[in-house]
Amino acid sequence: MTSVGTEDASADHDWEHEDKIIEPPKFAFSALSAASAEFVPKQYLKVAAEAKTEVPKADTEHIATKLEENLNLKDDEEQAEATEEEAEKAAPPAASTPEPATTVEEPHAPDAVPEEEHHEEPKEEDAGDSRQHLNVVFIGHVDAGKSTIGGQILYLSDMVDERTIQKYEREAKDKNRDSWYMAYIMDTNEEERAKGKTVEVGRAHFETEKTRFTILDAPGHKNYVPNMISGASQADVGVLVISARKGEFETGFERGGQTREHAQLAKTLGVSKLLVVVNKMDDPSVEWSKERFDEIEKKIVPFLKSCGYNTKKDVQFLPISGLFGSNMKERMTKSTCPWWDGPCLFEALDAVELPLRDPKGSFRMPLIDKFRDMGTVVMGKIESGSVRRGDTLMVMPNKAQVKVVTVYRDNDEVNYAKPGENLRIRISGVEEEDIIPGFVLSSVNRPIPAVLEFDAQLQILELLDHKAIFTAGYKAILHIHSVVEECEIMGLIHQIDPKTKKPIRKKVLFVKSGAVVVVRIQVSQLICVEKFEDFPQLGRFTLRDEGKTVAIGKVVKFPKLEGSSQN
Ligand code: GTP
Ligand code: MG
Repeated sequence: MTSVGTEDASADHDWEHEDKIIEPPKFAFSALSAASAEFVPKQYLKVAAEAKTEVPKADTEHIATKLEENLNLKDDEEQAEATEEEAEKAAPPAASTPEPATTVEEPHAPDAVPEEEHHEEPKEEDAGDSRQHLNVVFIGHVDAGKSTIGGQILYLSDMVDERTIQKYEREAKDKNRDSWYMAYIMDTNEEERAKGKTVEVGRAHFETEKTRFTILDAPGHKNYVPNMISGASQADVGVLVISARKGEFETGFERGGQTREHAQLAKTLGVSKLLVVVNKMDDPSVEWSKERFDEIEKKIVPFLKSCGYNTKKDVQFLPISGLFGSNMKERMTKSTCPWWDGPCLFEALDAVELPLRDPKGSFRMPLIDKFRDMGTVVMGKIESGSVRRGDTLMVMPNKAQVKVVTVYRDNDEVNYAKPGENLRIRISGVEEEDIIPGFVLSSVNRPIPAVLEFDAQLQILELLDHKAIFTAGYKAILHIHSVVEECEIMGLIHQIDPKTKKPIRKKVLFVKSGAVVVVRIQVSQLICVEKFEDFPQLGRFTLRDEGKTVAIGKVVKFPKLEGSSQN
């Protein structure tokens, strides 16, 4: 087990060195040691681990209904989709809020500047593979079967051989966890296998004729929600896994269950498409019952609508058995499930439409990990722009100019990679220890802003019982793309009126659960963020306190950026 409590990690940080930015993070990254040992690309690298602390019951149900509207994260069509009935159910009541006038800045057209680092126009064939690429995160309540499904996918797509499976079967049996062998493909560390719980986000690749997939297997346990956030923030599409087993669906879906929390967080983090996989359909308490499947769908749909999902356009339900691989690579036989006419999981994943991405945008790749292997290798997902071998880029916020030596996509070396790709890039010009996860590899001529302060519009969720007042001085953990950093609220700028959705001109000293408020946030060392309106994926965030999500927000303004030494 390599993860430590990142909720505390920034508090442990050596602030004295913040200006030099040479301190490696206190939180550990298992992929580091795994990957640096040999550079044969690992299939199952793990993402940043954190948050081990026992936490109070995570409950973000109240994010429901109004959450996306309040932050204007939802598109119009989706908003139209949410019915009045759902709106009434939402708690606490809050308002849709337009961009407050005082925080609006001139848009700075992030993609307007030509990318002079690219010497020639990248050619499609340089990418080495013309198939589309999709990042899929598996989310859902603990024990729903996420890792089992991930493992089964790898097995069915010939990424794991029979002998390995047999070995895992024996190993699982020895631990009295017979049925867990499929999950062992994704759960690679000892603690995960012993306890049968994913801790860190598992990472693997598989492909179909049409698509190359990166799968991110998030942990379901509530203690590891920050890891789930890290996985979901890199995903294009979510697979929400629900156990159909009697009692398990109910537990996952009740208040405080991670079915709810994960679905809500995923939407907040920009995962706008969901496949809802009703798993364990083989279980004796289910036996492929249509009634059970329908019951689950009927209960989940209104809830997903209330989270801001357009359930007609962006959500699809399907029954499967992850353990037996039914309705996964191939459609089920009628003898297994006579009533299902829909697609199997691979078909549904293949049919997901890719989000539009601009390969010519300013380059942005938040770094989730780094290690040393014949130089410095960094890992992350390209959020904007593209990269090719030989490019000159800048590691922000430490402004280190680097040269792209090698680009690895899955297990292959490529000349060119497009936005959305999950990559490992070997760079020269910077030492591995001078990079920490959360840094961003970025264009030289338009580097990502690095700030100590920013203004943000927050939707306060349910505050902790013993910290029920949100005011200047409130400290929390900020999660924004791959940054996890302690932050402090420096001041409340203005509140938003829930009825008129306009800024209230009265001075505001504190707010409570449910409020929408514009605040100034400060961190102790430079972090790289963008305004939500420019790069949504790099400008949306969550604030967590003692293991609970207390607010979600979007970056609206950089008060000190222009002409300051911060950038
Ligand atoms: P966390 O990582 O802890 O959140 O759990 P998970 O969602 O990854 O669940 P995991 O894959 O570890 O599976 C939990 C248990 O459910 C194991 O005992 C699996 O064998 C069992 N399981 C998973 N899928 C199925 C299925 O399709 N049918 C049956 N009968 N059992 C399943
Ligand atoms: Mg798991």
